[in-house]
Amino acid sequence: MSHFDTVTQAPADPILSITEAFKADPNPEKINLSVGVFVDDSGATPILDTVREAEKRLAETNATKSYLPITGSPNYAALTQACCFGDDLAGELNSRIVSAQTPGGTGALRVAADFVSGNLDTKKVWLSNPTWANHRGIFAAAGLEISVYNYFDSARLRLDYPAFIESIQAVPAGDIVILHACCHNPTGADLSPEQWDEVARIASDKGWIPLLDFAYQGFGIDLDSDAYAPRAMARAGLPLLVCQSFSKNLGLYRERVGALHILVGDEEEAGRVVSQVKIAIRTNYSNPPAHGGALVETILGDPALRERWIEEVAAMRKRIATLRREFVDALAAAGVTQDFSFLIDQKGMFSFTGLTKEQAITLRENHSIYIVDSGRINVAGITSENLPRLVSVLKEILG
Ligand code: LMR
Repeated sequence: MSHFDTVTQAPADPILSITEAFKADPNPEKINLSVGVFVDDSGATPILDTVREAEKRLAETNATKSYLPITGSPNYAALTQACCFGDDLAGELNSRIVSAQTPGGTGALRVAADFVSGNLDTKKVWLSNPTWANHRGIFAAAGLEISVYNYFDSARLRLDYPAFIESIQAVPAGDIVILHACCHNPTGADLSPEQWDEVARIASDKGWIPLLDFAYQGFGIDLDSDAYAPRAMARAGLPLLVCQSFSKNLGLYRERVGALHILVGDEEEAGRVVSQVKIAIRTNYSNPPAHGGALVETILGDPALRERWIEEVAAMRKRIATLRREFVDALAAAGVTQDFSFLIDQKGMFSFTGLTKEQAITLRENHSIYIVDSGRINVAGITSENLPRLVSVLKEILG
């Protein structure tokens, strides 16, 4: 008899467990298209040159390892607000934005969830169908009830805009609607600026609160265009939560660098909101880790370094866009009859292939090709070396 007899086996994480299985696979030709991590054409996830430069500078100038404030560095808050909202709007809104430096975008989501659960009238959040596999767990862990809104036509593998609009029109006032600001995860199907304007109008008419998961800024069109949603919603005068991540666009995955921004009505409200955000953080992890945030501050705070970083983000984005086209062309050239042209216009790392769970398992078990069981692939995991085998296996499976 053990005190741990009551512990049951939990299901494996639907995304990260696939990478664990990939790592354990001895096949030298194995291909990992599961977790959202950028690789270059050699299959490596490089440290950006600007990050290396920032690390050098920090090694020389870092003066202490003492704690950061509960909400992190104020300079980090200002720089990440500007990255999200643009310099002018961030300047205008500054006294109305409550910001916290968080351990990754996931940390921002969990702090947001705890804040909502403990402080707002609503106990309900609405998730995109489909959405990032971890959203449900994060919001449920904070004690919130989950509903879903329609987003994607899984037969046509495209955004179902009319069904989406109908769904979000039915969301009750005060509820939280989780939206992907750009590079929708897992489908890659994004909204246009006009469509975001309509979503902002609906949020305003119906009185629900948008929460933008903003993990891929710069991987869609460019850093500013990808920030259309938070900027449009802020200009529309909406209350707003944004969960920002620098894992992808600075390649800082393991450093866990993110931010939560909550846009409220006035300075007095901001004072009360920040007091509760501090409680959510203090009771979770006390205060944020400093190193990744200091890298972001060094890069975003130095105009020359920032320019170089913008080019590095553009290079990653262009590689993914090129891969999308090459993948579609190679599938067609191999004689795959199914139309995959939708992959070309989709944004960011991910796309839904329409492959079934059974096909995903066959790919993994028979061919050492690792994709998420939902059929999601990380396009950024394709390289010129693995593309021919990927395409020939897909031809075998799809005919
Ligand atoms: C993903 O969706 O693959 C990434 O956001 C990484 C993760 O934590 O799941």
